[in-house]
Amino acid sequence: MKVAIIGGGGRVGSCAAFALQCGGLVSAIQILDANKDLADGEALDLLHGSAFAGDQKIYAGDYARAADSDIFLITAGLRRKPDESRLDLINRNVALFVGILDSIKAAGFRKDAHIFVVSNPVDILTQLAGQRLGLPWQQVYGLGTMLDTSRFSSLIAEELKLAPTQVKALILGEHGDSMLPVWSSATVNGLPLAGLAECSPSFQNTVFERTKGSGAEVIKRKGGAGWAVGIAIRDVIHAVLLNKQTLLPVSSLVQGAYDIRDICLSVPSVVSRKGVEKHVEIKLWPKEQMALQASARALKETLAKVKA
Ligand code: 2OP
Repeated sequence: MKVAIIGGGGRVGSCAAFALQCGGLVSAIQILDANKDLADGEALDLLHGSAFAGDQKIYAGDYARAADSDIFLITAGLRRKPDESRLDLINRNVALFVGILDSIKAAGFRKDAHIFVVSNPVDILTQLAGQRLGLPWQQVYGLGTMLDTSRFSSLIAEELKLAPTQVKALILGEHGDSMLPVWSSATVNGLPLAGLAECSPSFQNTVFERTKGSGAEVIKRKGGAGWAVGIAIRDVIHAVLLNKQTLLPVSSLVQGAYDIRDICLSVPSVVSRKGVEKHVEIKLWPKEQMALQASARALKETLAKVKA
């Protein structure tokens, strides 16, 4: 499976490339970036490790070289300023993103190709990609709240001194200010976290607020996310590559689940070689369902303002 990383010269794109190289499953990684030197440099740096890492083809190239890709991973975009919400980014990034879509279209792409969006605001841009490229909705998806879910689970584990890989705590909705925690299904090794005395309402609120602010916190401290977002991207691509049919909180066009329609956001989604195979409407607590619907409304209001 070949992945072309558009924006691969940047922090998110290069960390995703490294995560895919260490994951050892994709057969080819193409680095594409507006800054050609940066793309060449990242591809060369990754290639230098290939003798010890794995037998993948790693190279820099343009849109014409990317036309045979199985997955177009789009990470290019301007980063938020620490006090800027993801949605504030929208107009600065929409023009850039539409330009990328037009370049993909002009160079050609396979009808079974997937568009995997990471650039922010990811839900809005995923929706634009679906509208402009004419691929089936299953083949156009965004990282959504995958990174938030990883942060949420990791921070819970750190605070409660639990093994991070045993904590499964979902974030759904917008990858942004209206995201919501799903405590109703949060578990540690299959046991309900809500049953832990330490997992008090104030603990729950504190750890969720920290999760929601994690993007800005990382931007403030080191300029932007890289390692964790690379791992989250790797997990989605491996779910596709291995046809895993895993249930992941990725963003795609919801058409009825949770009474939400015609907007891209993260609901539990079965991810396989087809892309997003289907949405799974797992019962939520009433307050969680209301928060999810509020998140959809917030995104629709923003989408209405988009000049694309
Ligand atoms: C974040 O939350 C990159 O939007 C991503 O850090």
